[in-house]
Amino acid sequence: MDKNHLIEKIKELKKTKNAVIVAHNYQVDDVQEIADVVGDSFALSQYCAKSREDIIVFCGVHFMAESAKILSPEKTVLLPEIDAGCPMADMVTPEALREKKKLHPEAAVVCYINSSAAVKAECDVCCTSSNALKVVKSLKEKEILFVPDKNLGSYIAQMVPDKKIILWEGFCVTHHKIKPEDVTKIKETHPDALLLIHPECQPDIVRMADFVGSTKQIIDYATQSDNKKFIIGTEMGVLNILKKNNPEKVFYLMSQGLVCPNMKKTSLKSVYEALTEMKYRIEVDKDVIIKARKSLDRMLEIG
Ligand code: 13P
Ligand code: SF4
Repeated sequence: MDKNHLIEKIKELKKTKNAVIVAHNYQVDDVQEIADVVGDSFALSQYCAKSREDIIVFCGVHFMAESAKILSPEKTVLLPEIDAGCPMADMVTPEALREKKKLHPEAAVVCYINSSAAVKAECDVCCTSSNALKVVKSLKEKEILFVPDKNLGSYIAQMVPDKKIILWEGFCVTHHKIKPEDVTKIKETHPDALLLIHPECQPDIVRMADFVGSTKQIIDYATQSDNKKFIIGTEMGVLNILKKNNPEKVFYLMSQGLVCPNMKKTSLKSVYEALTEMKYRIEVDKDVIIKARKSLDRMLEIG
């Protein structure tokens, strides 16, 4: 089937099955184009908590589809590519977290949304890169166990000197591999470009940024800025919206290595197959849903 035919078929199926397609900002351009909602982790969670459709086709990675299921357990949540995982989310298990909690019984446990449902069930509150600071600041506890992203955790820690942030040894394999030399080089080539960085990058990189934020915050910042050139320090998927919203501006990817292979697995074909074959259904254990939902709801209340 050619591309246009696939798009037509997906549109038809969406209507007949009462489905919505949500896509993360890192998805390939074709998938972003057919999605009803494209956004960062927080916006997509907010959407899934309120969505009215019977079926949510989640174009993203496994933990995101799980979060959609936790927030809308009565809905059918489909992940078109069952192997689309997140290596960072796999860096913390509920068993290991329970052991660590024993060492810090007074600490509040904050989990980055990039974690499994079972890990979320072990936490007090969830956060995304767009609201992590707000979430941490809202807690009365002085000690915070932050899992699994040590880079996001370090970024937050330097803004809350009154709190002790205990970091987990997790990181995003895509953002973490960017080296300060890569940034210095591209800054020298484009001295008048602003450097917009995702907090999943290492602290040395984050310190060099003109702006630090989630994918949506980076897109909004570049769109609202009067500057004309930007170096983008996050996964290359954001370039689609950036260029579409700002045809007169120029965007340079900080490194050609900024590609998340898991986010790139989903295609128009897999979305079509997801809707025709109703696969892959994401299921989460009922007890896990009840516990994990508390940490997600608390995050959504904080904003
Ligand atoms: P955000 O879109 O919330 O910034 O998330 C980044 C990310 O790495 C998702 O896996
Ligand atoms: Fe996970 Fe990083 Fe890929 Fe996001 S970009 S899904 S954090 S590996």
